[in-house]
Amino acid sequence: MGRGLFITLEGIDGTGKSTQLRLLAQHLKKRGLTVRVTREPGGTGVGERIRKILLASSTRRLSPLAELVLMYAARAQHLEEVIRPSLERGEIVLSDRYNDASLAYQGYGRKLGVETVRAFDRIICGDTQPDLTLLLDLPPRLSLRRARARQSRRNSKQERFERQGVEFHRRVRRGYLEIARLEPQRVKLVRAGGAVAEIQAQIRKLVDNFLAGRRKRPLTHPATAGDNVGAVHPLPKGEGW
Ligand code: TYD
Repeated sequence: MGRGLFITLEGIDGTGKSTQLRLLAQHLKKRGLTVRVTREPGGTGVGERIRKILLASSTRRLSPLAELVLMYAARAQHLEEVIRPSLERGEIVLSDRYNDASLAYQGYGRKLGVETVRAFDRIICGDTQPDLTLLLDLPPRLSLRRARARQSRRNSKQERFERQGVEFHRRVRRGYLEIARLEPQRVKLVRAGGAVAEIQAQIRKLVDNFLAGRRKRPLTHPATAGDNVGAVHPLPKGEGW
């Protein structure tokens, strides 16, 4: 069985990522594709327990490095239990966040630096890298308002990251945009300020184009697939940072 496809959704908190992921999964399933929807941190029994530690606002004084190691511990389990077996079966793995989140949140947000995060990545993810990443982009002052409204609706106690200020989320966003700038083939920017249906239409177009590009190429060259996907650069300037 050939290698499947690994698609990730990324973005700062409150960009509407999870809703968009659910709608994208429906779309792909309707196209007759086998889709494995998952998320990080989490996606496995052990991973969901680690997630609770990471997100609980009752978790205090977790050092940035400990946070990074826990993210990668959950990821190691996720890769072994879910991601690699699904890809080997030829499925589409659709993950709500993956390793770019560690680079953006821990590398840039917590200021651990790109090299530290990449060192973990080399050991744990190796060559299991996303084929396509959709980066939902929104200025933090808008996204945090959304994230906090949602938290208070749910009366959630899992808000350790949302509690970080705008400055933290600006650094995270800068990190994500830097990743997109360095890897334009893989990372596609989606402007997440509009209506749900409008954003979903952008996403479906990007994914459908990517899948069409893949069919024309041998499966063994994921890095070069999808050159024809929509022009999403230059990156936005002056939007809240
Ligand atoms: P997420 O499930 O996307 O939260 P929500 O659905 O409530 O928006 O992600 C949980 C948080 O974990 C989010 O604030 C980002 C953070 N995170 C990291 O800091 N590093 C990582 O590697 C990952 C996967 C997530």
